[in-house]
Amino acid sequence: MYNLLKGKKGIIFGALNADSIAWKVAERAHEEGATFVLTNAPIAMRMGEINKLAEDTGSEIIPADATSMEDLENLVEKSMEILGGKIDFVLHSIGMSINVRKGIHYTNSNYDFTHKGFDVSALSFHRVMNVLYKKEAMKEWGSIVALTYMAAQRVFPDYNDMADNKAYLESIARSFGYFFGRDHKVRVNTISQSPTPTTAGSGVKGFGGFLSYAEKMSPLGNASALECADYTITLFSDLTKKVTLQNLFHDGGFSNMGISDVIMDNFMDEDE
Ligand SMILES: NC(=O)c1ccc[n+]([C@@H]2O[C@H](COP(=O)([O-])OP(=O)(O)OC[C@H]3O[C@@H](n4cnc5c(N)ncnc54)[C@H](O)[C@@H]3O)[C@@H](O)[C@H]2O)c1
Repeated sequence: MYNLLKGKKGIIFGALNADSIAWKVAERAHEEGATFVLTNAPIAMRMGEINKLAEDTGSEIIPADATSMEDLENLVEKSMEILGGKIDFVLHSIGMSINVRKGIHYTNSNYDFTHKGFDVSALSFHRVMNVLYKKEAMKEWGSIVALTYMAAQRVFPDYNDMADNKAYLESIARSFGYFFGRDHKVRVNTISQSPTPTTAGSGVKGFGGFLSYAEKMSPLGNASALECADYTITLFSDLTKKVTLQNLFHDGGFSNMGISDVIMDNFMDEDE
């Protein structure tokens, strides 16, 4: 390992189980010398899997519903107490759509569900930064990262209202990132990750098809959760101090492809 996060302190949202991208980020951050607090929605902790991660990484857990300002304020205050000072890095790795979960078609959205999914998946990023900003909890040259998907820019029909949530999330990164950069020298970016077999990912209809299509389309193949964690670590490290307000594709090249040979082969007539 490279000691890239030696002495750095962080907060990691969204480690549900060993498949979670946030779980891998926590493991890698620990390997790189960071100390951090783990957090997730109280309901997500029922299975208790996060306790194992906390043990393995020497971390404390503070439950927080990312839609509750009260929970987030408590989280940030307690984290600074536990970690003994300001925060160097924050990972927002949160996503949920009830319309997706219930298989409700995009054209027929249940708007109560749309509101809830938007609050959890997008607005929560604003709330987290609002609390960090107001409490002046971030250290200068700190780094805040949220995870997103390319359906924010292009149409993936079954991604449903999560596409709209991700578009909003990416916009928040730019808008809030401006103020965080100007006032506290903190950078804010989103990583647009390949489809990844996790609890949230697999909830999307036709996920298997999604996954193999992206794999065949990308010159480097899909990026795994662990590879996403590696990339995230670089954004938390001092090696990327002037990278901010960016949506960074981490997808094996998928986002710039038109067609690949492997996909093309499926459409060639036999006599060609
Ligand atoms: N899996 C993919 O294909 C993929 C691709 C690109 C981006 N992403 C994004 O990566 C992030 C992490 O997802 P994942 O794939 O690791 O799945 P995951 O299911 O492991 O993680 C989602 C997390 O969101 C948490 N969460 C839900 N509601 C919450 C709330 N109210 N308060 C706090 N936390 C809450 C869940 O408990 C869970 O830990 C999400 O933003 C997701 O959209 C995933």
